[in-house]
Amino acid sequence: MNSTINLLQRHRSIRRYQSRPLTSEQIENIIRSAQMASTSSNVQAYSVIGVTDPEIKKKLSVFAGNQAYIEQCPFFLVWCADLYRLREACYIQNSKMVHETVENFIVATVDVTLAAQNAAIAAESMGLGIVYIGGIRNNPEKVSKLLNIPELVYPVFGMCVGYPDQDPAIRPRLEMKAIYHENTYHTEDITGHIKKYDEVMHQYYLERTNGKRSTTWSQEMAAKFKQPSRSHMRSFLNDQGFRFE
Ligand SMILES: Cc1cc2nc3c(=O)[nH]c(=O)nc-3n(C[C@H](O)[C@H](O)[C@H](O)COP(=O)(O)O)c2cc1C
Repeated sequence: MNSTINLLQRHRSIRRYQSRPLTSEQIENIIRSAQMASTSSNVQAYSVIGVTDPEIKKKLSVFAGNQAYIEQCPFFLVWCADLYRLREACYIQNSKMVHETVENFIVATVDVTLAAQNAAIAAESMGLGIVYIGGIRNNPEKVSKLLNIPELVYPVFGMCVGYPDQDPAIRPRLEMKAIYHENTYHTEDITGHIKKYDEVMHQYYLERTNGKRSTTWSQEMAAKFKQPSRSHMRSFLNDQGFRFE
């Protein structure tokens, strides 16, 4: 095992941070590392907003469902899928961009996600901790207004970054065979994998919460997917100019 693999396999989300700020060199290295992620046809269909202003972080924390660590972390990143700049590039060429496709939406969403994960690894390699914040999609309109996000751009998720002020356990994953299929997809063992993972997660929850949480993974998933989540996203995306034809 080398140090990169070791770093990747030690990841855990951090939800409590020291107040110590990041240096501008750290920020630059995180963002430059993000930029070197692969990007579909070099379209670079994303932007990222770095937030250090306490007032803005406070508002974002409320919009994301009162997740206090957004306010507490010294550096908060808002990762955006971005077709706006590409439309400008087309304008420069006196060309009209056909942006209203599911494919362009996927490209931009994948691009920003790859960049963000590069940033996460860069940050963790410096001894910093991170947690992704999908909660900003609870109130995507308010977030966009606050951050001046233009049309053809949407905030996909946020990311808290800072020095950890906690040392949480690594969260176990499904066993590798559950997600890795050789040559063709195998459905036959799935139930067995889920049951095994249920036992692992049941134990993990018990230990992490001193016995207060005694659910299993499949129970958690069933509760989560019993109803639609953030169904406002379709109309929000539509209003931002992401119309699918
Ligand atoms: C796109 C995305 C959105 C997430 N949103 C939140 C969030 O809003 N709040 C939070 O506390 N954790 C959030 N997480 C963190 C996950 O809960 C966490 O990564 C997962 O439970 C696995 O735990 P680990 O990162 O500690 O290994 C998010 C993760 C991802 C990838």
